Amino acid sequence: MIKKAIILAGGLGTRLSPITKSINKHLLPINDKPLIFYPLSILMLTNIKDFLIIVNSGTTNQFRKLLGDGSRFGTRIKYAEQKKPIGVPDAFNIGEKFIGKDSVALILGDNFFYGQSLSSQLLKASKLKTGAKIFLQPVGKPENFGIAKVKNQKVIAIQEKPKKSKSNLAITGLYFFDNTVIKKTKKLKKSKRNELEIVDLLNLYKRENKLNAEFLGRGAAWLDAGTLVDFLETSNFVNLIEKRQDLKIACLEEIAFNKAWIDKNNIKNSINFYGKCQYSDYLKKLL
Ligand code: TTP
Repeated sequence: MIKKAIILAGGLGTRLSPITKSINKHLLPINDKPLIFYPLSILMLTNIKDFLIIVNSGTTNQFRKLLGDGSRFGTRIKYAEQKKPIGVPDAFNIGEKFIGKDSVALILGDNFFYGQSLSSQLLKASKLKTGAKIFLQPVGKPENFGIAKVKNQKVIAIQEKPKKSKSNLAITGLYFFDNTVIKKTKKLKKSKRNELEIVDLLNLYKRENKLNAEFLGRGAAWLDAGTLVDFLETSNFVNLIEKRQDLKIACLEEIAFNKAWIDKNNIKNSINFYGKCQYSDYLKKLL
């Protein structure tokens, strides 16, 4: 059972410059809340309460101001800084102590997931004992993604942004790993672009025949917020659903309250914390 997760929220955010010259991308708004709320909410829905958020140098305080130690929504959050964005697997070097002897989930902090039955699928998948799990979704332009070819739920080939792809299944930014991820990461060498590559890490699992695939069907949405257009489109998507249903996507307190991780007093504290705003109005309805 996976009980711990790392959220990777560092990086340069080059494509969003000049905005990201002084603000971490993951603090920018998707509709009515910061981007980081969305990956965090997905992991909370997977019943994970222990988080390490990896941020870039000098930005811990901004995240702490927003999320604190996580107790406001029934979780425990620690922070670590990545000096330079030298690749996704670096999360397991930085997070070694946090992971300890456990298995761990990793989510890229700019990935957005939404869909019916998604949390039950993730809950089931989090029962992982050994090996690794990746989550795949069909895409129209495989040449823009890491792609996996699968046979009987086992990944048999991985291609990074292939010119000629073997499948249309993209590897999303959510991964479940057993504890050998720490040892495996130490074996990785930097690639030509001078980064540790997630594909190389996944290939180590694949070689042991321990890389399993889960499919996110067409009823689930997966988006990543890397460009301004992504931010606008994802915001519009959230806005449309929230307005129509009068329910919020990624309201952290609501998720925690429904799981009985917090009580009404905690919600009142959050309302005080956020002040007069739409998000607080929504929390009031929970009371
Ligand atoms: P990217 O989209 O590869 O990089 P970026 O967010 O810095 O953006 P840009 O390409 O415009 O410069 O990163 C994907 C996610 O992973 C994003 O949420 C940032 C995070 N990340 C880190 O925190 N550390 C890293 O070393 C890398 C490579 C990514």
